[in-house]
Amino acid sequence: MLLVTLCTQGGYGKAEEAQRPGHISVIIVGGTGDLAKKYLWQGFFQLYINQVNSGNTFSFYGGGQSPTEKATPVLFEILKAVSCTKDVSQERCALLKDQFLRLAQYRQLKSLEDYQNLAKHIEQQLQEEGMTEAGRLFYLSVPAFAYADIADKINSSCRPKSGAWLRVVLEKPFGHDYRSAQVLASQLGNSLKEEEMYRIDHYLGKQVVSKILPFRKENKKILAPIWNKHHIERVEIVLKETLDVKRIAFYDQYGVIRDVLQNHLTEVMTLLTMTLPMNVSSSEEVLGNKLQILSSILPLGKDQAVIGQYQAYKAEVQQELNKTKDHVSRTPTFSVLAHIDDAQYEGVPILLISGKMLDERVGYARILFKNDIFCVQNHNNIHCKPKQIVFYFGHGSLQYPAILVSKNLFKPALIDSEWKEVTEHTDVNVLGLPISDYFVQTPIEQKEAYAELISHIFFGLKNSFVSTENLLASWSIWTPLVNSLIGSFPRIYPGGADNADLLDIHLKGKEISYNNKVVIISPDQMSGASANGFQVMQGKFRSSVMVSAWAEQLVEKLATDIQEAAEAAIYEGGVFHLALSGGSTPLALFHRLADHHFTFPWRDTHIWMVDERCVLHTELESNFRSLHDHLLQNVRIPYYNIHPMPVHLNQRLCVEEDGGVLMYEKELTKLVNSSSFHFVLLGVGYDGHTASLFPGGKVDELGDSLVALTESPAKPHQRMSLTLKAINQARKVALLVMGKSKHELITQLSRMKDNPDKWPVTGVKPSNGNLVWYIDYDALLG
Ligand code: BG6
Repeated sequence: MLLVTLCTQGGYGKAEEAQRPGHISVIIVGGTGDLAKKYLWQGFFQLYINQVNSGNTFSFYGGGQSPTEKATPVLFEILKAVSCTKDVSQERCALLKDQFLRLAQYRQLKSLEDYQNLAKHIEQQLQEEGMTEAGRLFYLSVPAFAYADIADKINSSCRPKSGAWLRVVLEKPFGHDYRSAQVLASQLGNSLKEEEMYRIDHYLGKQVVSKILPFRKENKKILAPIWNKHHIERVEIVLKETLDVKRIAFYDQYGVIRDVLQNHLTEVMTLLTMTLPMNVSSSEEVLGNKLQILSSILPLGKDQAVIGQYQAYKAEVQQELNKTKDHVSRTPTFSVLAHIDDAQYEGVPILLISGKMLDERVGYARILFKNDIFCVQNHNNIHCKPKQIVFYFGHGSLQYPAILVSKNLFKPALIDSEWKEVTEHTDVNVLGLPISDYFVQTPIEQKEAYAELISHIFFGLKNSFVSTENLLASWSIWTPLVNSLIGSFPRIYPGGADNADLLDIHLKGKEISYNNKVVIISPDQMSGASANGFQVMQGKFRSSVMVSAWAEQLVEKLATDIQEAAEAAIYEGGVFHLALSGGSTPLALFHRLADHHFTFPWRDTHIWMVDERCVLHTELESNFRSLHDHLLQNVRIPYYNIHPMPVHLNQRLCVEEDGGVLMYEKELTKLVNSSSFHFVLLGVGYDGHTASLFPGGKVDELGDSLVALTESPAKPHQRMSLTLKAINQARKVALLVMGKSKHELITQLSRMKDNPDKWPVTGVKPSNGNLVWYIDYDALLG
């Protein structure tokens, strides 16, 4: 028997497997679908062109659910669109295309019988034409739920006779978490051997991605000593897209982490960080080293991710999935991760960034090296510029795939004869450097990822495919993260250039967060579509406006809103009257105001107390003492603008005859126009109390009083408080609720009817003003 070792086309390295020539049946299940139409048939035509003189013969089948009469013309429309590369003459191309079309046919592949008939047909053809069978290649371009069933049918009826190979190609998604990936893997394992399965990740077929290992190898002498934590500052793996989500029904269940990070970007990460194999074409070594690095990645949790969603996504989901207007999807369309690896890379942040509706379409991996040189005068000196290697997958400012090494680093060796050095540049900037500051290499001819991978499958090269072990190892990194993000609200971004610095991230040790913290996101409707509108999106709670965010952002937002109210009131009437509550919840707000609001107009602000405990103002329990310690003593507010409640008169505490209540009411009536505070800050207690208005305290019966003495069930029992009347006369009332321990209360309140006697907070209903609930995610979601 004649055995030939086939050389790979397109410089893939040496083929690992010797395979005998013969007849190959290619079956694309889902052969009239989008992927087949866009990439697969073109890839197989390319394979046909490359192999037509190799001694192999082919037949091609487009398989699908539709009946043959209906789908045959559709298939042939697709096949007619395939094209040749520039090196093939027009006449030859026409001839090859004609042959290719004659070798192709549509077959309905639905039932087991259909698969049995296909097998019979192949065998009959082999017999009739006296051909030896080399192999059968099934490409499953169908939804993943159909894989196990199809694999079973192939196994039971379409296996070639021994001596010929069977290869079954699968497209992601390979599960949506560790468990589902494991179930799918074991189902497939019942029908197919590991070596028969080719899980495609089209990123591994991108020309630049497939050259990462060869590049590392070619430049090993220089790279090996610097490929570690002592020299690498940071690694960035980025896939930015400008378009919105396609296939929403699929995407909405997956989101950016499962769609792109778990697979494409993780694969690139492994190629950059794995131990360099002795033989970069050996699948055993490559996949083994990948597994090793995957296993040494530290677990990912909530603190290693930020998530976002473009503004229009919600409406797209509502429309495409027939959801109502209040349906909220939490599916992230943007995400960033920081990984810290094993000893070699300890402390080196590895960022994986991907998103839809961003400013540009670009993909790259960048290794940024540390630079110890500081130029005192000439910052443009090459020594002071970023030292970096950029694996540029395509698009972006450069518009072509390339490997770029900054000139202050080293001059890389040419990877192979299919690549060339670019010396003449158009004037572009790539990641902070003009192109002329780089050594640039690019493929002589640009090739489609799918065509490359199809060729690998044909040659039985498995190093660019995802093994079961590696798939599960990847899911075990990502599953804890996707689980921990359940229930998290993504930051909403407007899309494109309007995102500005909204999605910038801040790295701090092993954690990342959004750099710009002033943004509030909430699950419900947006209050406007302008670039700023999205920052104050609001939901509804008890029919009032609700602002929701993580505690820190929520407090920032509230502080900003108070300052805005202050500025507006002072502009209008020269003074701002602010009534503040006690308790621990507002302390973060007090600190925020004191530490960050240096332009707050304190000089024209009057501070009033919402309520007070009947203790001396010097006591720690006193609301005034707390306000003093956490806010007043830290800001420049005139003493005469501060209005503590007179709970201590005639050397006694809160005695009615001493007239403290009337005194405060008089002061209020004298200074505050129409006794209407500009802003009242309230909290709510576990029992539904607000201010010092407690359940059963007949809060509705306090008549026209603005101030009252009340009784708390908790010590100190005696209190002085603004009444609901005083509160409801205010222009703005903010109800601040924070912390997981308030979740139960918030859940109850969301369902409760107004009943101020039992739940005093439900009596807060400003008659001419606004009520806004500020509820943090812990309280809202538990
Ligand atoms: C696919 C994802 O796998 O990769 C898409 O499902 C994404 O959401 C695409 O757009 C990106 O691939 P490329 O080759 O365009 O960078």
